[in-house]
Amino acid sequence: MIPIKNQEGIAGMREACRIAATVLAKMRTLALPGVSTYDLDQEAKRLMESFGARSACFNYRPSRSHRAYPAYTCISVNEEVVHGIGTIKRILRPGDIVSLDVVLEYEGWIGDNATTVRIDPVSPAVERLLKVTEAALYHGISFAKVGNRIGDISHAVQSFVEAEGFSVVRDMVGHGVGRSMHEEPQIPNFGRKGTGDKIRPGMTLAIEPMVNTGTHRIETLSDGWTVVSADRRPSAHFEHTVLTTENGPEILTIQGA
Ligand code: MF3
Ligand code: CO
Repeated sequence: MIPIKNQEGIAGMREACRIAATVLAKMRTLALPGVSTYDLDQEAKRLMESFGARSACFNYRPSRSHRAYPAYTCISVNEEVVHGIGTIKRILRPGDIVSLDVVLEYEGWIGDNATTVRIDPVSPAVERLLKVTEAALYHGISFAKVGNRIGDISHAVQSFVEAEGFSVVRDMVGHGVGRSMHEEPQIPNFGRKGTGDKIRPGMTLAIEPMVNTGTHRIETLSDGWTVVSADRRPSAHFEHTVLTTENGPEILTIQGA
């Protein structure tokens, strides 16, 4: 069952998402040459706390046997696709791209968003990877319309990305989000039109294309979390939490005061 949010749930999601977007926007201004990914993560932790929110990532365990996530945000550099762990050893430098993923809980509701920033100058190929991935997110969101199906979003993202010669990661997916970080439905970034669950008003969906330069295949490093492209070529990630309404999709992870 896909949870449908009532007015109260929508209000809660609006707040959590607004804070998540504000933290992400601040974090991206701090992603500069010479800064460590550990410092970025710590700053995000402080910011979340200043808003009365808490990281939904810290200590997160996908299953009982899985190692708890040790950081407050996910920071993934270059060939890292998602779930990178900030460390003092990783100093950002020109040419890097950095996926910043902020998932936080505020008053029982969860907001989830991500962006990939560039530490200039980056190569033209990497610049195009970022442009295409971000545009694929907005293209996918435009299909999150009442009456469509989840597969319409998936197909839109995949066809957009592949037409540009890049590949979509298949082993990780977008998801419903609300009281929990991961709710139904799963939202793959590949699929067929007209398949999957029907989109109804009041769904809150985290749509998140992960796009690789080369192969779509991924590997997980020995830390148990960091996901990298199998060919170690650069990967980008953009994400918004979206509310479905009778008037079309509404992006909730928009920065506010
Ligand atoms: N946006 C990511 C996701 O939806 C965040 C994962 S947080 C972590 O899966 F706890 F898994 F690190
Ligand atoms: Co997510």
